[in-house]
Amino acid sequence: MSVLVIIPAAGSGSRFGGPVPKQFQPLAGKPLVQYVVERFLMTDAARIVVAIPEPLLTTVKQAPGDRVQFVAGGETRQQSVIKAMSAAGDGYDVVAVHDAVRPFFRIDTLGTLIDAAQQHGAALPALPITDTIHATRDGRLSATIDRSNLVAAQTPQCFRYDILRDALARAEREKFDATDEAGLAAHYGYQVHIVPGDPFNIKITRPEDLALAEAHFEEWSK
Ligand code: C5P
Repeated sequence: MSVLVIIPAAGSGSRFGGPVPKQFQPLAGKPLVQYVVERFLMTDAARIVVAIPEPLLTTVKQAPGDRVQFVAGGETRQQSVIKAMSAAGDGYDVVAVHDAVRPFFRIDTLGTLIDAAQQHGAALPALPITDTIHATRDGRLSATIDRSNLVAAQTPQCFRYDILRDALARAEREKFDATDEAGLAAHYGYQVHIVPGDPFNIKITRPEDLALAEAHFEEWSK
């Protein structure tokens, strides 16, 4: 069974602020994206394709025969995934798409997700929502959302290769842009299986998250 890993890392990270996008911020002395790539290198993934901002392509080493390949990303996360997938070519059974800014994914959860994707077609890790969620209008609370059926999506999200390729091609034709690939697969009628996520698999979005990640990293590597 051959697994392709796609890491979209081409965002500008506007919510993080500052000139360095969040996926290149250092965690324990390494850029987050490098940390994530090295974790995937511990698995038996056949190929790891990382979409990065085009101007950075000349700054990375791309060794022939290496499992890691860098490509220029696109305007949106979905465009970056499309570019990475076409650069990888075919011949894979399962594709795992993982945010460059989630350094603490569990390798055993990845295995569970790959198995679930093979069985059901698509799978994502997700957590129940613990906060109360309100809708707002003009800076004021307008409604409280029933959270009993809501989950917060994490990555890695895993798909049978043909399913992700079909969903991305249809989205491209219809100019439909989803915020994650699990949502895209569901939009096109594929069954997406939910696997319990991990509260430590945080998405580093704001500078405060990086401080939390440093603290967690210290605890984790003891
Ligand atoms: O913007 P958001 O936080 O949802 O980004 C999630 C992931 O998608 C990040 O790793 C980001 O670098 C990546 N991304 C990308 N290409 C874009 C926008 C986001 O690869 N155009």
